[in-house]
Amino acid sequence: MEKEPIIIGNWKMHKTGREASHFVEDLIPKIEGCPAKVFLAVPYTSIASCAKAAKGSAIWIGAQNMHDANEGAFTGEIAALMLKEAGASFVLLGHSERRHIFGEKNAFICKKVIRALKDDLIPILCVGETADERKEKKTKEVLQAQIFESLDGISKEEAGKIILAYEPVWAIGTGVVATGKMIQDAHEICKNALVDLFGKRKADLISILYGGSVNPENAKEILKEDLVDGLLVGGASLNVDSFAKIISPNPTKKRKKS
Ligand code: PGA
Repeated sequence: MEKEPIIIGNWKMHKTGREASHFVEDLIPKIEGCPAKVFLAVPYTSIASCAKAAKGSAIWIGAQNMHDANEGAFTGEIAALMLKEAGASFVLLGHSERRHIFGEKNAFICKKVIRALKDDLIPILCVGETADERKEKKTKEVLQAQIFESLDGISKEEAGKIILAYEPVWAIGTGVVATGKMIQDAHEICKNALVDLFGKRKADLISILYGGSVNPENAKEILKEDLVDGLLVGGASLNVDSFAKIISPNPTKKRKKS
């Protein structure tokens, strides 16, 4: 069966609510009829305006983080139900900037995954090794630990709702993209970890995306790699033409029968 690729834009801390909704309005006609699922992870303050602008289109709006509690004394934090009510359908969890700048650990990320599933947001779990970890040949160990510990306790029934994004930390925002071989090897490690956790049938339902310096020039090639079900795009998703170019020339690729 052929699957539509999932293309996610991660805006990080960019765009006001007004700028964001104008972007969505501009993007809709540019990607009409494209065989891709398009997600935009926008700042919290832009969720409502983007969800309104995206209504009736094929674009899904989501958040870049959340807390695991449903409410409480957590100054500056936000709960899944608040995101949901604002119009979010998904949430990025464990992005490398959350892990490395804000010190988030797998156990905390796991609690968020559980909460997102409970409150009906699609959790998009991000994993990836640093340059040093790769140099020390620890990529497999790191990815496995991130996946096992961040998905600890998730039932097989819920596994199919999760999306995984492999983003090598050294490729994020650097202009250095992983080679095809590196991407395939890492996606295989991720896939095997998911099979260990949930069994082959359920693991096959989990899309694995690549992220890290994706741009309109390299997107098509990366999407052709085996086990790559889509892309997580940071910098190149901030410009509507460049993001539309990443989405629209997607080759529909033949999937291996499982
Ligand atoms: P980049 O970011 O595309 O700018 O490298 C990707 C990400 O952080 O998700």
